[in-house]
Amino acid sequence: MTVTPARFITFEGIDGAGKSTHIDAVAQRLRDAGAPVVCTREPGGTALAETLRELILHSPMDALTEALLVFAARRDHLQQVISPALARGETVLCDRFTDASFAYQGGGRGFDFEVLTRLEHWVHGGLQPDLTIWFDLPADVAAERRAAARVPDRFEQQDQAFFERVRHGYEARMTASPQRVVRIDSSLPRDAVWRQIVGTLEARQW
Ligand code: TYD
Repeated sequence: MTVTPARFITFEGIDGAGKSTHIDAVAQRLRDAGAPVVCTREPGGTALAETLRELILHSPMDALTEALLVFAARRDHLQQVISPALARGETVLCDRFTDASFAYQGGGRGFDFEVLTRLEHWVHGGLQPDLTIWFDLPADVAAERRAAARVPDRFEQQDQAFFERVRHGYEARMTASPQRVVRIDSSLPRDAVWRQIVGTLEARQW
């Protein structure tokens, strides 16, 4: 019997960066290679966390409340879904995780990084993704892409300066963890973005 190693892979980027279709393709590729894969998202992934997601995306609130709610949702998600799946040796693909809190609440909203670091520690201790794929593109290009999409939520309504700050938030996370966070140039055509992702997985022999 081949034992497949548990892997925790997260996908990040500003709204409109185009990560969703690629997450499905990564799942397919890993399944084809024989890995059991769980696909999930944040905020969300459990009944409670999906309820919190609705509030986070649509109810007005201050930055501390927002930070507490995203981490409360994450706590439930980790306990109910992520940690059990990793313990079973499954690969977890998560559409956003704690880097999004540092980028959106920290970078975008200007919320205290020290509090976020403490929440990160309380909520997931030493657990970090094995790989984070960061879909990076300029805020103005992402805004054009979003304009063609659906009704904007509380984050998608923000201006370009907000998304540039979010982008810098992601950059800071990559600088702090260069082995874990891999930047993908998401301004390129879709197949070129996919080739970068495949290269990233192949470099790890995944
Ligand atoms: P996303 O799932 O990418 O939205 P959509 O399904 O509309 O593409 O992300 C939801 C939003 O939540 C996104 O704007 C970023 C925000 N978010 C935070 O602000 N902090 C967090 O910790 C997380 C996980 C998401």
